Amino acid sequence: MTELAVTQMQLADIDKVFHIEKLANRFPWTKGNFEDCLKSGYRTFLYSADDELIGYSVVQSVLDEVHLLNICVTPAHQGNGYGRKILSHIIDVAVEQSAVIVVLEVRASNFRAQQLYLSTGFNEMSVRRGYYPAEQGREDGVLMGLELGMLSQLGQSLL
Ligand SMILES: CC(C)(COP(=O)(O)OP(=O)(O)OC[C@H]1O[C@@H](n2cnc3c(N)ncnc32)[C@H](O)[C@@H]1OP(=O)(O)O)[C@@H](O)C(=O)NCCC(=O)NCCS
Repeated sequence: MTELAVTQMQLADIDKVFHIEKLANRFPWTKGNFEDCLKSGYRTFLYSADDELIGYSVVQSVLDEVHLLNICVTPAHQGNGYGRKILSHIIDVAVEQSAVIVVLEVRASNFRAQQLYLSTGFNEMSVRRGYYPAEQGREDGVLMGLELGMLSQLGQSLL
């Protein structure tokens, strides 16, 4: 697997990010969602290999919590370990800013993402009934968290 180069997402990147977002998700974010995140100062990262955009992430910091709002790998490159690398980068970012926890919501049906989170050490914290729109009605969201308290005190990287 090629190493990933990490850069900041800019407004000019949104078209290519949105293209991947639509390919990878049944209910994609809108371009406006990405623009709002950039305008709000959320941390937004692009991950590239050999100058090809492989994926991206969007992270919001609320006090000492880091909320992972979006993580995505372009479908052609899924299953090659890139998602795990991107998640590892987000955890490093959270540790650097001395966050105590990384939290995220994931669709109850998104077993692939849940497997990634569980195998990285995330725990299920609660279930939000009907949190997401679905093809038929609504779908539950699973709130998951990874506590970093000890790691950030020690200044260690998790991975
Ligand atoms: C979720 C996502 C980011 C994972 O990225 P990825 O590059 O495919 O994942 P990786 O190759 O790093 O695999 C990480 C783990 O995911 C799980 N996984 C990957 N492919 C899987 C599959 N086909 N079935 C089940 N689990 C799978 C495994 O646990 C894997 O770990 P392992 O290879 O050590 O067993 C990616 O599938 C994606 O972008 N999905 C669409 C957007 C999305 O659902 N984002 C998450 C929203 S909460």
